This record gives sequence, structure tokens and C-alpha cells, in this order.
Amino acid sequence: MTMLGIIRRNWALRLSVVMNVFVLLYVCVHIGSLGPWIEEAPTSWAQPLVEVSKATELSATASLPEGSKAGSTRETGIGSIQDGKSAASSAATKETAALTMRDKTGKDNEEVQGGKSGNATTTQKQQESVSTTMGSMTLEEAIPCNDRSTTPKTALRGDYWVLYNYVPMSTKVRCWESVTYTTHADYTFLDNLEPLLERWQAPVSVALYAPGTDFQPTVDTIKYLRICGSPLVSQLVTFHVFFSTKHIPKTVPSSSKVLSEGWNCTLPPPWANVTVSKMYKSEKKLLYPVNVGRNIAREWAPTHYVLPSDIELYPSPDLASRFLEMIRRRDQQPLYKPNPKVFPLSIFEVSADSQVPRNKTQLQKMLKAKTAIPFHKKVCSGCHNVPRSKEWQEAPETEGLHVFHVGKRTGAFVHWEPIFIGTNNDPLYDERLSWEGKSDKMTQGYTLCVLDYDFLILDNAFLVHKPGIKTFKKDPVRDMLTGKTNALIKKIIMPELKVIYGTRKGCAV
Ligand SMILES: *[C@@H]1O[C@H](CO)[C@@H](O)[C@H](O)[C@H]1NC(C)=O
Ligand SMILES: *[C@@H]1O[C@H](CO)[C@@H](O)[C@H](O)[C@H]1NC(C)=O
Ligand SMILES: *[C@@H]1O[C@H](CO)[C@@H](O)[C@H](O)[C@H]1NC(C)=O
Ligand SMILES: *[C@@H]1O[C@H](CO)[C@@H](O)[C@H](O)[C@H]1NC(C)=O
Repeated sequence: MTMLGIIRRNWALRLSVVMNVFVLLYVCVHIGSLGPWIEEAPTSWAQPLVEVSKATELSATASLPEGSKAGSTRETGIGSIQDGKSAASSAATKETAALTMRDKTGKDNEEVQGGKSGNATTTQKQQESVSTTMGSMTLEEAIPCNDRSTTPKTALRGDYWVLYNYVPMSTKVRCWESVTYTTHADYTFLDNLEPLLERWQAPVSVALYAPGTDFQPTVDTIKYLRICGSPLVSQLVTFHVFFSTKHIPKTVPSSSKVLSEGWNCTLPPPWANVTVSKMYKSEKKLLYPVNVGRNIAREWAPTHYVLPSDIELYPSPDLASRFLEMIRRRDQQPLYKPNPKVFPLSIFEVSADSQVPRNKTQLQKMLKAKTAIPFHKKVCSGCHNVPRSKEWQEAPETEGLHVFHVGKRTGAFVHWEPIFIGTNNDPLYDERLSWEGKSDKMTQGYTLCVLDYDFLILDNAFLVHKPGIKTFKKDPVRDMLTGKTNALIKKIIMPELKVIYGTRKGCAV
């Protein structure tokens, strides 16, 4: 229960930060000083702030059962912001519209789970009174969404059997309450889960590829992590498992069996000393269906906002809560543009003997010392070069989170494979592409470009790869597969995308 104490203290801290930000913001809004972006100023951006807030003020307080508000997150620490009142736009254009029109809504609390104590603390009341004077809305109202079930469900998905929510997180989370890190892996990558959680402190949805005899060690790994690892694993991680119809395991225990069985924690982790070439997927020469995993994890995330990422990429601490705070604050001009939007993160790698930096200031020192470099600089710099990256690296760290620059996937960034916070309204990943064939995020990037997405690059948030800098290695098998994939994209997928989404000048795969 020391966790709880830490979380409570974090809360007090966050709250004071939030309040400071509010005061600052109040001053900013009234002086009219805007951030570092230099896009055209929409004329009406400040208006809905007042209109929406007036309209929603009453319903906000009237329709929310006190208990449900205070209860669920505070006890679990899912890295979210509680109330406070402010609204924000979100990734989809539809939602931006919904925002300005919403008034008597906020009634998706019928299914309120938990809400145990009903103890509305003074801190919450304080926060509400501060924000009441600001005149805006709650996070719940700022993010219109429907809660998702975490009940296990087995279904066929194309050529794959999927055990959705096979082992669900124990914490109940409302869809507006947090951000889910969604990812894919096989069990040998799950050593990354704890360092990831330690920084993320919010829900994780992971799809595990487990064909044939890789299935049992996968289940063992889930048990090992939940029973012997950090309590955050069982609290915050939902495991989905999938395998091809041609590579069914011998037996598949039920979810409840996996949840109820124990594990001997003196045994080494199941991923220790695995010889990759002896794994089922290697012996059968199976390609890794990276995008099937990505889509499963994203579609079954319990929250509206998601960060689809690769499990070796560790986010800067407090990212989920700071992001939601920005959404709730609603003071970022680019949020009001009608374009659909996503929030890309800058990505770095650090040398094998380095610690992963915990904040931008630390990161900047490491960049200067050359112990950190931009991600894949030595492998595929065009894929991960972020617009205004030089300016980003030079800009000093500030409080909270803001939009640093609004970029597009055109010009020098036409092959960009951004990793971003978005929603399930964004295009999915093409499940015909494999990890081995590379370019697995390119067709999604192309679609985002054609749909005229804005890429709202965040200023103080970033991802860092597990320590160790990747260098280019020649791999004839992979080169052959890359060639096949490129042909598939060019001859089959691109013509489809052109029919379905049309074209736009400057967009390419
Ligand atoms: C709220 O919590 C405080 C301290 O935890 C406790 O003393 C108080 O009785 C609680 N109030 C209600 C209404 O539960
Ligand atoms: C747990 O594993 C260790 C090491 O293999 C073994 O010595 C011990 O007897 C096991 N404990 C139980 C309860 O099975
Ligand atoms: C892993 O293998 C090495 C050498 O084969 C051995 O020394 C080590 O004890 C093994 N570790 C575990 C955790 O089994
Ligand atoms: C960044 O992290 C370092 C090391 O943990 C710490 O000393 C420093 O105060 C932090 N800076 C900011 C701005 O939070």
C-alpha cells in the first residue's frame, strides 16, 4: 500500500502544478500571448471556451455522482487527471464539432464501476472551485467516448485466432480517464514491460504473438510477471494473445484458469536463456505479423486516447497525465483547427551503458554528450526524422505539455513513420505487412497524409529506446522480404488506398 501513498502524494503535487498552470493560463489567455506555433490564427478559437463552459457548467455538476468522480482513479493511479474543468478538442474532427455542441451530455456514467468511497476530498473541491472561476469543463466532458469492456472474448480475425482480453487489467478505467499504451510482442520481449510501466503508470494493452509451442511459455510469462513482478502489471496491463489458424497450440487454458493459477517465483523468468532460433516461430520460419498485433492492442484499449508504440520504446514519465491535462486545459490553438490530428513524439536512442533520461533537460545533456542520438539515425533517418527536430532539441524544458509545432507528412518528411498519441478513429495498420518486410507503418502514414492530418508535435514529451544504439547490419533474407513488401505496397496496396481515400499532392508511401 505504499504505492497508494505515493500516488496520493503525487496527486497533491500534480494538483498544485495544475493550479499554477491555471493561474498562468488565465494570465496568458487574457494577455493573448500564444505559443511557439506559427500557423494562421483561427479567429474563433477562444470563443467556444466561454460558450461551452457556460452551457455545461450546470449539467457537469448535476449529472456526475460524486462518488464515481472521486473513487476510481484516485485509488488506482492510472496516471490520469481527475476533474477540474476545461475542455479540449481531440483527434477527430467530429469530436471537435461535438465539443462545441455538447451541452447536456456527460451521461455515460450509467455504468460507473467502483466509485468506492464517495469521499470527495477537499483537494477536489478546491480544484473545482479554481476551475469554476476559469469557466470550462471536466475532462469527462472534454473527451466524449464510450467505456470499453475488458471481458475476455475469443474470435477469429482473418487467419488468426485472437484471445482478446485473455488476461485483463484488474483496475477499472473510464474511457476518458487515462491514455493506453498499446503494443505488440512475443514473450521474449516482455522484459521491457516493467521498465515501461514504471515510467508510464497508466494502462497498457499488449497483443502477444504465440503460435504453436510458443504459447505455453507465453502464458507462463504472463503468470510470472503478474505474480512475481511489480503490482502495476496486474493492475494496468491487459494481455491479448493471438496465433495463426495453421499454428494452433496443443491446449489453450481458459482466462480464469490462467488468472487463478500460481507461479514459483524462485524460477528464472521464462524469457531468460531462450534461444531465438529454437522458438516455434523461428523453426517454422513464420513472419512476425506486427500489424495484426498493433491493431488488436489498439482496438481493445480501454481508453479513448491511445499511444500505439513498440514495447522497447519507453515514454517520458507522466506523459499520460500531462497529455490529458493539456487536452483539458484547451489552451492550445492548433487543437481548434478542423483537420484530424495526432500527437507525435520525438524518439531517441541511448548508448548501452546509459540510463534512460527521465526529463527533457537530462535528455539534452545526453544529446550534447553524444550518449543519446535521434532514433534510427544510423539505420533509417528519413523514417523517424521529426519536423523541427533541431529546434525541439534546443528548446529548454518547460512546465506541462504543449504543442511545439504543427507538422505535415510532406516534403522532407514524406517517408516519416511517426509514433503518436491518437485515437481509434485514426486509420489502422495494414495487416498484410510483416515486421520482416519493413515499411510496416508507411501505408498508414500515407493515409494520414491523404486525409490531411495535422501532426501536433509535443514539446516536453519523448520516447527513448531501451539502451543500446542500433547500427546497420546487412541481412540478405530481410532484404529479399523487403523487396517483396515494397512490391506488394506498390502494386496492390497503393492502388487500393487511392481508390478508397483518393490522392493529395505531396503525399507518398
Ligand atoms: C473521508 O476521508 C477521511 C480521511 O480518509 C475520513 O476521515 C472521512 O470520514 C471520510 N468522509 C466520508 C464522507 O467518507
Ligand atoms: C520452486 O522452484 C525452486 C527451484 O527450482 C525449487 O527448489 C522449489 O522447491 C520450488 N518450490 C515449490 C513450492 O515448488
Ligand atoms: C543461462 O545460461 C547460462 C549458460 O548457458 C547459464 O550459465 C545461466 O545460469 C543460465 N541462466 C538461467 C537464468 O537459467
Ligand atoms: C530532470 O531530472 C534530473 C535528474 O533526475 C533532475 O535533477 C532535474 O531536476 C530534472 N529537471 C526538471 C526540469 O524536472
